[in-house]
Amino acid sequence: MKQFKMLVNTNDKIGHINRELYGHFSEHLGRCIYNGIYVGENSEIPNIHGIRKDMIEAFKNIKMPVLRWPGGCFADEYHWKDGIGDKATRKKMINTNWGGVVEDNSFGTHEFMELCELVGCEPYISGNVGSGTVRELSEWIEYMNFDGMSPMADLRRTNGREKPWKLKYLGIGNENWGCGGNMTPEYYADVYKQFATFCKDYGDNKLTKIACGANCNDYNWTEVMMKKLGQNGFWQAKGLGVHYYSVPEWNSKGFATKFNEDEYYRLISTVNYTETLLTRHTEIMNRYDPEGKVALVLDEWGTWFEVEEGTNPGFLYQQNTMRDAIVAAISLNIFNRHSKRLKMANLAQVCNVLQAIVLTEGEKMIKTPTYHVFDLFKEHQEGECVYCYTENENMREGKDAPMISSSASVKDDVLTITLANCSLEEDAEISCDLYGVEAKNVSARILTEEVHAHNTFEQPENVFIKDYTASLEGQKLRVKLPACSVVEVTIR
Ligand code: AHR
Repeated sequence: MKQFKMLVNTNDKIGHINRELYGHFSEHLGRCIYNGIYVGENSEIPNIHGIRKDMIEAFKNIKMPVLRWPGGCFADEYHWKDGIGDKATRKKMINTNWGGVVEDNSFGTHEFMELCELVGCEPYISGNVGSGTVRELSEWIEYMNFDGMSPMADLRRTNGREKPWKLKYLGIGNENWGCGGNMTPEYYADVYKQFATFCKDYGDNKLTKIACGANCNDYNWTEVMMKKLGQNGFWQAKGLGVHYYSVPEWNSKGFATKFNEDEYYRLISTVNYTETLLTRHTEIMNRYDPEGKVALVLDEWGTWFEVEEGTNPGFLYQQNTMRDAIVAAISLNIFNRHSKRLKMANLAQVCNVLQAIVLTEGEKMIKTPTYHVFDLFKEHQEGECVYCYTENENMREGKDAPMISSSASVKDDVLTITLANCSLEEDAEISCDLYGVEAKNVSARILTEEVHAHNTFEQPENVFIKDYTASLEGQKLRVKLPACSVVEVTIR
């Protein structure tokens, strides 16, 4: 068993962990919305106005803070007026990005907003910039947010919703360097300003407008946006995005459940690259905005493998193993440590697509190992991230793959430490000195299995959270981490 020394100092606060760092993303893609979250009012699967009840409960349990919709690439082809009013007459369109299937628009603004209300999370809407108009987006905001008398507010009332929803998070386009219009950053910055100008604040509701950000390490995109969106301390955006997916290699993505050790460690190293990415984008933003008025928003992240055999290649359906759990733990620990600038992150995607937290088959729904990591980490939400240092060890020569991943936060005098042992071979024992807290009680929970282990519709609880033991000797915490495990420690 390898020994690791660790130190947590609760007097040293690093950043406030906005609950939105634990956000999710839902797109009209494959079975994320239809036959996923939304089964329709006439389904035999228990539902509220077509939204699966088991899913609402699952999302509430992990305190889902925010949900992004309707895309993704789909967002820049989505015309919101097609998705309101009588469902029988809603326009049918082709989803050109994802499998060329027919989109019948039965899940639209009202349905999405109801989903968010049922879950208790903030909606985050990506507006159509690529193929939409300024007027269209401006009217969508009026439809959702205006309380008075106006054409759009009246239309909303005609469609059965008296009070506005008060949308807060608005993305102005998605991946406008690619599927959202193939724009240069210079051009997009101007387009952003034009669209943003006409997305008004109504009443006391203030929009948090989020500009499309860089693809992974396109630092020039961030540089140009920061240069063009601010002037004399006034910023036209409150957030700037970035997207990053972890894959062993883009030309050979590998499979979700079939992989060897080498692929595992390669993937872990690409996940750790998130640290470099966030650091470098933050450095650029710090130069232009030292006061931190513009948040960094990682509005798409997660693993991307080949689709499951026999499924539509355009549906991006993949299983989810303990490997994904380790990926999620490393990522969320990194997000906590970057919480000073990073204020939202959305896992792609919430259901049946990419690194999903739930998978469905007919009436069955299973929670994936990634879901359980969100459960283990949920107490970090709205906490203060505190200094946490581990004497670490790299698992592979020349690769950025530290064996132990960690972060710590304090909220209401409770210290939460989350740890992952990313090694597939060696157990670890952590001996952690605690400063700044009077540690009296400790409890722990663990997620651990062989790295390929996953939940199936026949065996939905192959991977699940168990109670665990950690010990306190005065101000020293001791906890063992089996190989391939994620642990939450709570100290009161
Ligand atoms: O999440 C799948 C796709 O990945 C999204 O539609 C797009 O924004 C990104 O390229």
